[in-house]
Amino acid sequence: MRDEDALARFAVDESGLGRFPPEAAVLPETAEEVAHVLEVAAAHGVPVTPRGTGTGMTGGALPVRGGIVLCTERMTKIRELDVDELIAVVEPGVVTGALQAEVEAAGLFYPPDPASLASCSLGGNVAENAGGPRAFKYGTTREYVLGLDVALMGGERFSCGRRTMKGVTGYDVTAAIVGSEGTFAVATAITLRLLPRPAAVGTLLATFVDAITAGTAVGAILRRGLRPCALELLDRATIEHMRGRGRRLPARAAALLLVEVDGPAESIEAEVERAGGACEEAGALEVVVARSDQERRELWETRRLVNPTLRDTHRRKIPEDIVVPRKAIPEMLRRVDAISAETRIPTATYGHAGDGNLHVNLLVDEPDAEIADRLGRAMDAIMRATLELGGTLAGEHGVGLLKMKYLPWEQSPQLLRVQRELKRVFDPRDLLNPGKILPPA
Ligand code: MLT
Ligand code: ZN
Repeated sequence: MRDEDALARFAVDESGLGRFPPEAAVLPETAEEVAHVLEVAAAHGVPVTPRGTGTGMTGGALPVRGGIVLCTERMTKIRELDVDELIAVVEPGVVTGALQAEVEAAGLFYPPDPASLASCSLGGNVAENAGGPRAFKYGTTREYVLGLDVALMGGERFSCGRRTMKGVTGYDVTAAIVGSEGTFAVATAITLRLLPRPAAVGTLLATFVDAITAGTAVGAILRRGLRPCALELLDRATIEHMRGRGRRLPARAAALLLVEVDGPAESIEAEVERAGGACEEAGALEVVVARSDQERRELWETRRLVNPTLRDTHRRKIPEDIVVPRKAIPEMLRRVDAISAETRIPTATYGHAGDGNLHVNLLVDEPDAEIADRLGRAMDAIMRATLELGGTLAGEHGVGLLKMKYLPWEQSPQLLRVQRELKRVFDPRDLLNPGKILPPA
């Protein structure tokens, strides 16, 4: 399609980084069509930006050099669900939540659960190596991708990986493509590893006087040897935004930990009690256990609505996605408060505390021109603090455009060189999702 109105939705994503209209968007339905687009575009030297459903938060799907957006949203078949081998084969446009529903109906489990699972697609999850709350216990998308069918810029196609549980044949090209943010290849089919569905889950909500104390409770839970499937933190600003949205949350809460455990039915209650005990020991004001599926669903709905709520209530929000060692969470939260006070940029911090993965959101209502300097200083300071505390700059949202400038802050020139060469192996003319991840040499 080339119509300007129809193209408008392909000019943006959820990063809020601006509008980058492509010249054309192509919505293939088969692997052959994907390869054909890549072949024709390469022949004419036209850039191609792959796109799933556009829920990315660092600008990975923005066609910054124009050209073609290759959107896989019409490739929505679950081709295979093998309950004996615990494998699913899907097309890249399958929505993550739709696969989960199908898999769970068969008594199986696909753990990766990005907050946007109702709308994000597995192709996008593969490109970004998406995580989510359950990554704490179960790992991120990469742990579940056994194999890929891909097409390269130029139209060449190959399969990599395997359908077996083990396999070390050759370099792990599959793992390299997962998380390459659509800069190496376009996946046309994804072979996923599944698990048996856990028999039971237990969920609790612990209330704290502040996020720093809640951060301390994360350490207390880990020291008890517990492995919840989710350990989520919400700070005061996040809670206030959610209350403003009409979500019911404990009255005294100035910070919350949402903890979920899963496993055999007979052990769940004891696990919930141990997790609650650890929170109390760390100073929780109150621990409330979800008593029904409905209560549990409401808690998770509140959690998943955080990102859209922050986005809807501010002119712009910059979603940081840092990771620090878990013992450094309280110190990182202290530093975020100090940076916010110094730059006068309000923040709301929440995220996957079990992984040390914090979404520090910078909330912007003033016009960019008035605030650009303070915003830049706040972002720089958050990145610097993360690295000083032994962390990494991107946990699960990718580098995209948003973090490109900061990559050399974390990674050595040697490592950047190796990554540039790797990119050249897959895409020597820099036509596939150009202008992402690696800053110009
Ligand atoms: C989340 O955890 O809610 C997602 O990663 C999206 C976000 O950063 O808000
Ligand atoms: Zn997240």
